[in-house]
Amino acid sequence: MEILLADKAGFCFGVKRAINTAFEAAAKGKIFCLGPLIHNPQEVDRLRRAGVETVDDFSSLKAGDSLIIRSHGVPPRVLEQARDRGLTIIDLTCPFVGKAQRHAEALNKEGYQVVVVGEKKHPEVQSILGYAGDNAVVVEKAEDTESLEFQSRLGVVAQTTQTYGNFSEIVLKLLRLSKELKIFNTICSSTKERQDAARVLAGQVDVMLVVGGRNSANTSRLADLCKREGKPTYHIEVADEIRHEWVKGANRVGVTAGASTPDWVVEGVIEKLITEGGKVGR
Ligand code: F3S
Repeated sequence: MEILLADKAGFCFGVKRAINTAFEAAAKGKIFCLGPLIHNPQEVDRLRRAGVETVDDFSSLKAGDSLIIRSHGVPPRVLEQARDRGLTIIDLTCPFVGKAQRHAEALNKEGYQVVVVGEKKHPEVQSILGYAGDNAVVVEKAEDTESLEFQSRLGVVAQTTQTYGNFSEIVLKLLRLSKELKIFNTICSSTKERQDAARVLAGQVDVMLVVGGRNSANTSRLADLCKREGKPTYHIEVADEIRHEWVKGANRVGVTAGASTPDWVVEGVIEKLITEGGKVGR
C-alpha cells in the first residue's frame, strides 16, 4: 500500500504565525485566548500546557492581562470592549481575514448591502459581519438566496475558506437578483491550494484520509471535496481513529490535512499507516 501526501497540506501562513506568536508570548507569562486559537483540539491542548488559556469571554480578566485575538478576528466592538477593560491585545487576525473585513466595511460605506458568503455561525463570518453594517446578510448556499431579501446594490465578500464552486454558484444567483453587483474574491490562496491538491490526490488514490479538527471548517470542506471526487473519504482528528478495514486492500491511500492541522498530527497518521503495511510514496 502506497501512502501519498497532498502537495499542499497542513498549517497555512496565518495559523503558523498565530501558533508561533502564542508560544513565544506564553514563554514570558500566562496569556489568554478568546476562543480556541485554532480549530484543532490536540494543538489547543499543547498550547494550554504552554500557558495559553482559552476563555469564552473576557469578563474574568483584569487590566494588564494579555488577550489573543485569533486568526478569525473579532467584530470591532469586541476589540473596543477589550481595550476599555485595559487588556493587552495580541491581535493575530490573519491578514487575509483583515482584508475581507476591510472590503466589507468599504462596501457598506459605499452604500452596498454586504453579502458574506460563508457559514453563519463561524467566528470569521461573525468578525466580518461586525464591519459590514446592519443590513448585511450571510449566504451559505445558493438555495439560501431564494428565501432572503436583497437590495438592488450588493457587495459580496467570502469567508476565506470557502470553495470557489460554492462562491461562484452564489454569485451567479446574486447576479440575477441585483441591479449592481460588486464582488471581492476574498478566498485565501492557501485554502485554494489545499483544495486543489486534495482534489488531484483524491483522483489518484483508492481511499482518502483527511486529517484535522472536526470543528475545522476548512478541513470539513477538504473532506467534502474528496467525497465529491467519488472516493471513500474519512475525516479523522488523530491516528488512533484509523480502522484497518478502511485501508485493507487499498493500493494507494491519500492523506491531506486542513490549514489548522499540525505536522505532528499528520506524521502520527503516516506512522499508523506504515504499521498497517503502508510505504510512503513519491
Ligand atoms: Fe489566513 Fe488563509 Fe490560513 S485566511 S488563517 S492563511 S487559511
